[in-house]
Amino acid sequence: MQAVILVGGEGTRLRPLTYGTPKPMVPLFGVPFLERTLSRLKSAGVDHVILAAGYLPDAITRHLGDGARLGLKLTYVIEKEPLGTAGAIKNVEQYISGPFFVLNGDVLTSLDLRKMIEVHEKRGGLGVLHSIRVEDPSAFGCVVRDETGRVKSFIEKPPRETAPTDEINAGTYLLDPAVLEAIPKDTNVSIERATFPKLLAEGKALYAYLSDDYWLDVGRPDQYLKAHRDVLDRQLALDPLADPEMHRGAFIFAGAIGAPSNIEPPVFIGENVEIAPNAMVGPYTVLGDGTRIGPNVVVRGSVLWDGVHIEEGAHVTDVILASRVRVGKLAQVGAGTVAGHDQHVEPGTVVAPDSRLPATQAEQAAVAPT
Ligand code: GTP
Repeated sequence: MQAVILVGGEGTRLRPLTYGTPKPMVPLFGVPFLERTLSRLKSAGVDHVILAAGYLPDAITRHLGDGARLGLKLTYVIEKEPLGTAGAIKNVEQYISGPFFVLNGDVLTSLDLRKMIEVHEKRGGLGVLHSIRVEDPSAFGCVVRDETGRVKSFIEKPPRETAPTDEINAGTYLLDPAVLEAIPKDTNVSIERATFPKLLAEGKALYAYLSDDYWLDVGRPDQYLKAHRDVLDRQLALDPLADPEMHRGAFIFAGAIGAPSNIEPPVFIGENVEIAPNAMVGPYTVLGDGTRIGPNVVVRGSVLWDGVHIEEGAHVTDVILASRVRVGKLAQVGAGTVAGHDQHVEPGTVVAPDSRLPATQAEQAAVAPT
């Protein structure tokens, strides 16, 4: 079985994290998000994954190589210009040899992909789309279906009051290769907005598979933090069948017996982390490998990537700090702040809530990709 993962987006909403790291390589508890997705695909019986990349592709190829470590065959297809979600699929056509999965690269879900195969075998048609219910569908593409699951229409971002359904396109598809005939070559095309509506207009059958699985698009800083919180709250189990190599570091869940007094669970602590005895770490904090937390530091609700250093007396709450960020003595970093790779917060600085460091694209040039 084959799968195509769309990993070519620039991830603008996750900037400045994505200046140095493409969104699929952004870590979730120390492991690149994409690696977790690949492990899920493998558990579902997928053996060949085609990665449709474009933005900072070297960071992806360098880390994953030919996929042998994960027990998968990986093929990379790099776009010169972004081709959109359907154009990117058309662009990998030569590698497709049967029904195949398509996944958005930034969705965290407990979806059992095998259920989609069952629906496809039962119903036929050109494809199955995963759909889920949300409270407010106005930010999503709605999927209107009949009682058999056959899709009637797609309504993109409807006003909340007039939304015809609360069921939305959750960004995972199982497609028949015939879908490729509906996509023009070398053209930027959106599968959600152009290809699927076109297929319906031609009378072709698409089916929705509605599930109540955990589902989150991790493409925004607040959602990225929420993904970590939800795992720490045990709303979602990560990679039940994963390679043990992926599980470096330790979870300390709420109610853990014998947690050190400077740790308030739930937290995740990477390898080679140093925490001063009178610092306070947690709850809902993730410390990447090699993090150093100085004396009298308070860190809460935050995700710190590898090699971050928080110096004596500094306070950080509800922030995301990319690799090697340093927060100087007695500095205070406001909630919602996101700091890109290698940023230094000078001692004593008060960083306003929701800041972006570095704040401008010009500063991106100074950031070395990791
Ligand atoms: P934002 O800029 O923050 O909207 O993020 P994004 O660029 O990743 O866009 P979006 O979240 O809408 O994309 C959904 C998925 O499709 C992500 O996994 C993207 O990597 C992927 N994607 C979006 N556009 C393209 C494209 O032109 N080519 C490829 N190969 N993938 C794409």
